[in-house]
Amino acid sequence: MPRIIVENSSPLRGTVRISGAKNAVLPIIAASLLSNDKCILDDVPMLDDVEVMCEVLVSLGADIKRISSGRIEVNSRDIDNYEAPYELVRRMRASFLVIGPMLARMGEARISLPGGCAIGTRPIDLHLKGFSAMGAEINFGHGYIEARADRLRGERIYLDFPSVGATENIMMAAALADGRTVIENAAEEPEIVDLANFINKMGGNVKGAGTDTIKIEGVDELTGANHTVIPDRIEAGTYMVAGAITNGDIIVENIVTNHLMPVIAKLREAGVFVEEVPSGLRVYAPERVNSIDIKTLPYPGFPTDMQAQMMALTSVAQGTSVFIETVFDNRFMHVNELRRMGANIKIDGRSAVIQGVPKLTGARVKATDLRAGAALILAGLVADGITEINETHHIDRGYIDIEKKFQNLGAKVYRI
Ligand code: EPZ
Repeated sequence: MPRIIVENSSPLRGTVRISGAKNAVLPIIAASLLSNDKCILDDVPMLDDVEVMCEVLVSLGADIKRISSGRIEVNSRDIDNYEAPYELVRRMRASFLVIGPMLARMGEARISLPGGCAIGTRPIDLHLKGFSAMGAEINFGHGYIEARADRLRGERIYLDFPSVGATENIMMAAALADGRTVIENAAEEPEIVDLANFINKMGGNVKGAGTDTIKIEGVDELTGANHTVIPDRIEAGTYMVAGAITNGDIIVENIVTNHLMPVIAKLREAGVFVEEVPSGLRVYAPERVNSIDIKTLPYPGFPTDMQAQMMALTSVAQGTSVFIETVFDNRFMHVNELRRMGANIKIDGRSAVIQGVPKLTGARVKATDLRAGAALILAGLVADGITEINETHHIDRGYIDIEKKFQNLGAKVYRI
C-alpha cells in the first residue's frame, strides 16, 4: 500500500502555487451536462475525485478530453444514458450532483445512493425536497434513486440547512426549469458563486449566488462556455497552516484573499503574521502559536474543511483550545491519530478540547478522510522523528502534487 513519509521539517520557507478548487470544479463538470455544446474548463486539478466525476459523465454519454495539464473539454451533446453506475457513485458522494442537471436536461435520472468519506451520515433529503418541489417524481429501490420529470417548474424552496450540495443541485435543476426558482437559506460558499458564474456564461440566469437567497430564471437551453475554476481556498489554508506550524515564512500564490478571511482571522488570532503580497499571501510565525477557539459554520463562518488542519496547529500551541464542529456529526476521526503522535485532545460530542504540548512524536498513522490526512502531514512536519501515513488515497482525493508542493517549501515529505 502506498504511504506518505514525513520527517521533521521546521521551518518551511518558499512559495507554493494553489491549484483550482476541487469543490468548485466538481459541480461545474456536472453542470456541463446542462449544455448541448462543448465546455472548456481551465485550472482543473486532476485529482482522483475529478477523474471519478469525469468517468461518471462519460458513463452518461458525454465526451471528455484532457487538452493539457489543467484544461479539459467536456461535450454533453450526445448524452444518452440516465443511470450513473454504482461502482462510480459509491466512490464519491459528489457524483450525486449529476442528478439535478440530468433531471433538467433529460427529464430522468437513476443514481445509486451516494457514498463518500466517513465524516458522518450525509443525507440527501434537502436535494430531494428541492426536486420534488419542482415537480419531479422520486422513487427508491435496490439502493438506487429514480427521478423523473417531463419539465421541472420553478418553485420557492427553503433549505432547512444551507447545504452546499443541495444548493448546487437545485440551482442546476432550476437553470432549465419552467419559470423562476428561489432558493432560501442557500449556502453562500465561493464555490456556489463560481458555479453560478459558469451557468450564466452558458446563457443561464442565476442571481444572488453568495447570499442566502438565490433566484434562478429557467431558460430553454444552455450553450457551451469557457471557464477558469477559482483557486482552492482549503488547499491554500492547508499550506498556510504548514507555514505557521513550522514557524516558517512562506508565500501562498494564486489565491482569492477574500475567500480566506475566516482562516486568516483565526491564524492572526493565534499570533501568526499574514500579509498580502503582490502574488498572494505571506504567512510567517516566528514564535510558537497560541491557543484559539474555533466553531465551524457554513460560509462565511470558519470552514469545517479546515478544522482538522487547525487542530494539528493547536496541538502544539501555547495553551488550551476548544473546537466545536457544527457542520458534520463525525468529523473528529483525526483525533485518535493525532493522539498517537502525543497530542492531548479530549472529545465530548461535537466539542474537542486541545491542550497544547511542546512536542509531538512521529508515529505510524492513517488518514481517515482527506482533511484528516492533510492534518497528519502538518503534525508530522513538527514531530520528533518520522511519521508514516497510511490510506493515502484519501489525501489524493483533495490535494494535487502534495509531496512536490511540500518539497518546494523545504519539507521532507515523500511517497513510498
Ligand atoms: C460540500 O459537501 C463539500 N464537498 C465538503 O467538502 C464540505 O465539507 C461541505 O460541503 C461543507 O462545506 C463538495 O463540495 C464536493 P453539505 P456537501 O451538503 O455538499 C447536512 C472536502 O473536504 N445535509 O453542505 O456534502 C449534511 O449531513 C469535502 O472537500 C443534510 O442534512 O456538504 C452535513 O451535516 C468534505 N441534508 C451538512 O448538511 C442534505 O440533503 C453539510 O452538508 C444535505 C446535507
